[in-house]
Amino acid sequence: MNKNFYITTPIYYPSAKPHMGHAYSSIIADFFARFKRMDGFNVFFLTGTDEHGLKIQRAAEQKGLETLKFCDELSKTFKELSKTLNLSNTDFIRTTEQRHQKSVQSLWNQLKENDNIYLSKYSGWYSVSDEAFYNDDEIEEIDDKKIAISSKSIVEWVDEESYFFRLSKWEKPLLDFYEKNPNFISPESRKNEVISFVKNGLKDLSVSRKSFSWGIKVPNDKNHVIYVWLDALTNYISALNYPNKSNDLFKKFWPASIHLIGKDILRFHAIYWPAFLLAAKIEPPKKVYGHGWILSNDEKMSKSKGNILDPLEIIEKYGLDPLRYYLIKEVSFGNDGNISQQRLEDCINSDLANNFGNLCQRVTAFAIKNCKSKIPIKIKFNKDDQKILNNYIENLNNIRIEIDNQNINFYINFIVNSLFEANKYFNDQEPWKKKNDHERLDTIVYTTLEIVRKISILLYPIIPESSLKALKIFDLTEEDIDFNSIGNNNFLKKGNLIKKIDILFNKIEKKND
Ligand code: ME8
Ligand code: MG
Repeated sequence: MNKNFYITTPIYYPSAKPHMGHAYSSIIADFFARFKRMDGFNVFFLTGTDEHGLKIQRAAEQKGLETLKFCDELSKTFKELSKTLNLSNTDFIRTTEQRHQKSVQSLWNQLKENDNIYLSKYSGWYSVSDEAFYNDDEIEEIDDKKIAISSKSIVEWVDEESYFFRLSKWEKPLLDFYEKNPNFISPESRKNEVISFVKNGLKDLSVSRKSFSWGIKVPNDKNHVIYVWLDALTNYISALNYPNKSNDLFKKFWPASIHLIGKDILRFHAIYWPAFLLAAKIEPPKKVYGHGWILSNDEKMSKSKGNILDPLEIIEKYGLDPLRYYLIKEVSFGNDGNISQQRLEDCINSDLANNFGNLCQRVTAFAIKNCKSKIPIKIKFNKDDQKILNNYIENLNNIRIEIDNQNINFYINFIVNSLFEANKYFNDQEPWKKKNDHERLDTIVYTTLEIVRKISILLYPIIPESSLKALKIFDLTEEDIDFNSIGNNNFLKKGNLIKKIDILFNKIEKKND
């Protein structure tokens, strides 16, 4: 079995500071990376910044900064955010780096050699904001302005010499590829829109620009820069040292297991990218997952609406793990989801403070007082204990399968139910009434502690820092994080000391309570 796993986020435009939408994609990717790692996979997790093109050039001009300097500054804020979000990424790529530029030019040469690129002239609509070309039927006019129907961004007319990629030639091979790889475009609900777009006929794609210079030069024609999407998509292989296909990274991690993206950039990833790769005789990625939008008060966040949520402000106020937990739980993965501070506070109070935090505190305090601060030694599981413990064993493989289908909702529901069951178990078993039957009292404590350990491990991909804090009860560290171990009901070493830990989550005082 292939135990390598390669996951990517989009590389973000450093045209402005990162916002909650960027944080969301990155946190979800980190969730999968951490889960796979704790399930014994070698994980390569890539994120970074997309720094060429007219959008960036103009943003720099507006700030009166030299373009590369502007990119250096803003790219840094994205890199810092990846630290603040506690991402476990293996690499952070910038498209202005040498290694990337080399890789893009090699891919270009490869496409050129295979007769997939020719020189002609482009006349048509272009959106700088999307860095995308649009057909006439994808444009509408509002208040005398031409805009792209799908993204509502302003388009401008372009008329210039351009190199083209023979996308039309790849229509049939792409349709065959989708058929042979039914999970390539996920979730299922987004597949049809892509397939019908391809079936409607693909036109050759303009892949160079002549009227500005901020980009990677076309080899042997310094008047042209390579189209920023051909440039950007290549990041996924330049981080694996392409064009050196026999190096370890490429051999191990290509094709990527999953490109995680927002639904706005599905066309680039599900049509153009596999077409470029097929044309260069490189295997396409295994899956492209287009997640939904984070909405703020039911609207998409945008600069013009002034409803952009700043991840740093939220983290400052509530802490990182509450934000990670909230985004993963509240936004039903794959769909659009509304977020609000009100709901975030409810989530902290009910799930994190009351259910998880309280469970940890209660059972450790009880064990410290009644079991001499030690993990009980003489225990005998009865049917109730076995039932609650075996639920984890029974779901072990299920969880793996659901995660491989990106069913985060299943995963989080499993945790929420487990927390509910664990608290109920401790209440119903009433260990405080068992002081005359110490074996029973010890067994209840052992069982509950084992459950705390299992749930902490399950929570690790979601709230890594808090999970590790909870595992300190048992003196366990990151090295002990092993998904498989939740199937072991006797993992905790009998007689070991139990440590008291600080409160994991503080409840938020609410004005209306
Ligand atoms: O498109 N909700 O970069 P970008 C959820 N550079 N996710 C959101 C979001 C929201 N409201 N807003 C943004 C680009 N995102 C290109 C990508 S990849 C080779 C090149 C996330 O800075 C989501 O993942 O515009 C979306 O696809 C991405 O940010 C777009 O980031
Ligand atoms: Mg965008």
